[in-house]
Amino acid sequence: MPKFFVNGNECTVDEPEKLIYYLRDTLKLTSVKDGCTEGACGTCMVLVDGKPQKACVLRTDRLEGKHILTVEGLSEREREVYAYAFMHAGAVQCGFCTPGMVISAKALLDNNLSPTREDVKAAIKNNNTSEIYMMINQGGAQGMLTMEQDLKRLYLAKKISLETAITYANNKTRIQQILAA
Ligand code: FES
Repeated sequence: MPKFFVNGNECTVDEPEKLIYYLRDTLKLTSVKDGCTEGACGTCMVLVDGKPQKACVLRTDRLEGKHILTVEGLSEREREVYAYAFMHAGAVQCGFCTPGMVISAKALLDNNLSPTREDVKAAIKNNNTSEIYMMINQGGAQGMLTMEQDLKRLYLAKKISLETAITYANNKTRIQQILAA
């Protein structure tokens, strides 16, 4: 039986399964969001031995000896700091993908306390919803048009699902027409 650690607690599993299901359903660590279940969106990001990885593409039988960290495992001080920093930057939106972003931010800041803008972009490049954050922040009619084209690009590149594209679009009818074109 593989043994690993989640937020410092020892775990063993009888039946191998995707790590995301074990974290959410067995351990009730619901900060780990299930956005696509196929490694595309990054909302399920966790740290595995300090490295950001997507819980939906990991299996519990391949984690022998590994240390997994979710947002629930952050110290109270860390939670306060990340909550403040994300709010201060306006990076909250609906909050669904925020835990995954926080995990990627922690992976960066644990190793580099003075990151450049490029470092930050690289750190969140696997949180594909980060592209949606940037699009939303463009604002205005032109921004919305660009956003819809970008949603189409992400959808065609299989980085987001049809449902996600429609969810993030302001004009649901138009995005459906654009995606169908
Ligand atoms: S739920 Fe894991 S990458 Fe989308």
